[in-house]
Amino acid sequence: MKFNPSRYTEMQYRRCGVSGLKLPAISLGLWHNFGGVDDETVYRKTLHSAFDTGITHFDLANNYGPPPGSAETNFGKILHTDFKSHRDELIISTKAGYTMWEGPYGDWGSKKYLVSSLDQSLKRMKLEYVDIFYHHRPDPETPLEETMATLDLIVRQGKTLYVGISNYRKEEAAKAFKILKKLGTPCVIHQPKYSMFERWVEDGLLDLLEKEGVGCIPFSPLAQGLLTNRYLKGIPKNSRAAKKHGFLQKDQITKERLQQIQGLNALAMERGQSLAQMALAWLLKDPRVTSVLVGASSSAQLMDSVSCLKNSTFSKDELSQIARILNAQQ
Ligand SMILES: NC(=O)c1ccc[n+]([C@@H]2O[C@H](COP(=O)([O-])OP(=O)(O)OC[C@H]3O[C@@H](n4cnc5c(N)ncnc54)[C@H](OP(=O)(O)O)[C@@H]3O)[C@@H](O)[C@H]2O)c1
Repeated sequence: MKFNPSRYTEMQYRRCGVSGLKLPAISLGLWHNFGGVDDETVYRKTLHSAFDTGITHFDLANNYGPPPGSAETNFGKILHTDFKSHRDELIISTKAGYTMWEGPYGDWGSKKYLVSSLDQSLKRMKLEYVDIFYHHRPDPETPLEETMATLDLIVRQGKTLYVGISNYRKEEAAKAFKILKKLGTPCVIHQPKYSMFERWVEDGLLDLLEKEGVGCIPFSPLAQGLLTNRYLKGIPKNSRAAKKHGFLQKDQITKERLQQIQGLNALAMERGQSLAQMALAWLLKDPRVTSVLVGASSSAQLMDSVSCLKNSTFSKDELSQIARILNAQQ
């Protein structure tokens, strides 16, 4: 396969915390739209366009599908056919932390679960190693020392190059960073849910990440499609909210939400960009955000999102207009 030769000059690469790793400003997540229920022609094209535009980072997890595991299998298949000679140009991540198989060893954060799950992910993707392995969510029962020691172990075994955590609140994250640092395997990245509509990370987590030199890659930066033009005129048939297996629930699209979306959309249009582009640019204006982890059900959507990089600064007035819209009664 021939890819765009200028892809690495067109994309922005940002350092992940204080690590040696750089990530593209836009990364692609395979949670929805790449599973066994999805159309291979469509997702294959999305992967090609992504790489063609300089997106080097693809984010997976053991359970992405449906069915669980199928996103890794599908990605592995395309990786070994279409991207065969480009493995060293890619940052592939996977995770374990949510329910993957039956019984007491297929969930949460034990050493037994994490080691087995990563071995399964590597088999599905036909890889010897991944670039980043995450603990997907904190486990209230397993000692944090055991979970973090397992992350350290798999780095030493060569099964992942870097480790990260996801969905950890500030206090839990601080403890995890401390343990990992002591073990000699610093955490390079945190993956929290963060968008204009979900701002808990601003309450101390981002400050902690900066202080500890850990990168931040917000997931669902478009609030699963709410922060786009997708729902301006109702719920389209092929949208995430309309799909049985989609995680966006119809009842999340309230009248008040729609008013905010319409207000934001009008401002985006004044700025000469789509709402998706404005929502991503708004996150990327913070240098503590390494990359935004978007989803896409088509190559066209992804290309639209990538164009956020053409206009990523905000005037004071625009920022206060956004704050006013977001603070309006929900
Ligand atoms: N660590 C975790 O716990 C966790 C949890 C969730 C997600 N993630 C990661 O984050 C990634 C992204 O999450 P997400 O898919 O929820 O992200 P998102 O970017 O907030 O939403 C993606 C959806 O928005 C719509 N969309 C995207 N670009 C658009 C555009 N330019 N114009 C119009 N609509 C557009 C599409 O909806 P339609 O499908 O309706 O077309 C698309 O499926 C996941 O794939 C996964 O890698 C991690």
